[in-house]
Amino acid sequence: MFRLDHKIALVTGAGSGIGREIALLYARQGAYVVIADIQLAAAQRVVNEITAQDGRAQAVQLDVADEAQVQAVFARVVQEHGCLDILVNNAGVSHVGNILETSLDDWERVMSVNARGVFLCAREAVRLMVARQPQGGVLVNIASVAGMVALDRRLPYSASKGAVISLTRSIAIDFAQQHIRANAICPGTVHTPFVEGFLAKNFPTTSDEERDKLHARQPIGRMGNPDEIAHAALYLASDEAAFVTGSSLVIDGGLTADNSVLIFL
Ligand SMILES: NC(=O)c1ccc[n+]([C@@H]2O[C@H](COP(=O)([O-])OP(=O)(O)OC[C@H]3O[C@@H](n4cnc5c(N)ncnc54)[C@H](O)[C@@H]3O)[C@@H](O)[C@H]2O)c1
Repeated sequence: MFRLDHKIALVTGAGSGIGREIALLYARQGAYVVIADIQLAAAQRVVNEITAQDGRAQAVQLDVADEAQVQAVFARVVQEHGCLDILVNNAGVSHVGNILETSLDDWERVMSVNARGVFLCAREAVRLMVARQPQGGVLVNIASVAGMVALDRRLPYSASKGAVISLTRSIAIDFAQQHIRANAICPGTVHTPFVEGFLAKNFPTTSDEERDKLHARQPIGRMGNPDEIAHAALYLASDEAAFVTGSSLVIDGGLTADNSVLIFL
């Protein structure tokens, strides 16, 4: 079940955290995985982990916000592998601030990676998948619960993730007849370097205490683990999810079901 044998997958931001876990799991399930990250050394480390487990992968340096780089990487994938079956748009960055605490530079930095980057990569993938019928392909976009509900002082991040959810639905509807499925995953707080970076930046002297508070604030009593998101990304990419498109799968330990104070990264 949930095998990805003979599939070519590209995962953005796969050098760390959730993307890394998705890449490792996809490779274990038989996919050839292109690890695309702005940090080439991090991408290469994940490739080394995969090949050490007899999986197949390659590292490519990619800034998802750069149109020319995105086009070059997708062209290279087709040239080397003949096709692309699965795209996971995972690369993302954050910013803490309400509208008065968000400069235009902050807004553009977050939107350029989280929204523009997803648009650029999805456009290349859909172009390839439309040209490849009747196989089509699958898009899995990592959004966030921040795109569904308002979270404290996360203005550009929430706006960018709302855009990802909407873009996912549009692609799903526009290309359903061309056998392209597009789904979003909306994680709650997941314990990754993204969270550790937030703690180190905002609570340099009390990071341990704040980490414990973050665990305790989730209704389920702990933050999620990256592999708990990866398994959802595996299901959505698999043939078992053939009837699933346009959905936003919430994986948040009950966060958005709880109507008390929402605190998230
Ligand atoms: N960790 C959480 O609590 C959480 C919750 C909800 C959603 N998410 C989303 O999950 C995704 C992954 O988050 P994570 O926690 O694993 O983060 P992370 O910081 O551990 O990993 C992000 C990766 O993206 C790469 N990256 C950043 N900018 C890039 C760019 N312009 N082009 C290519 N790669 C780039 C980084 O180098 C890094 O390897 C993000 O989209 C994030 O918004 C995370």
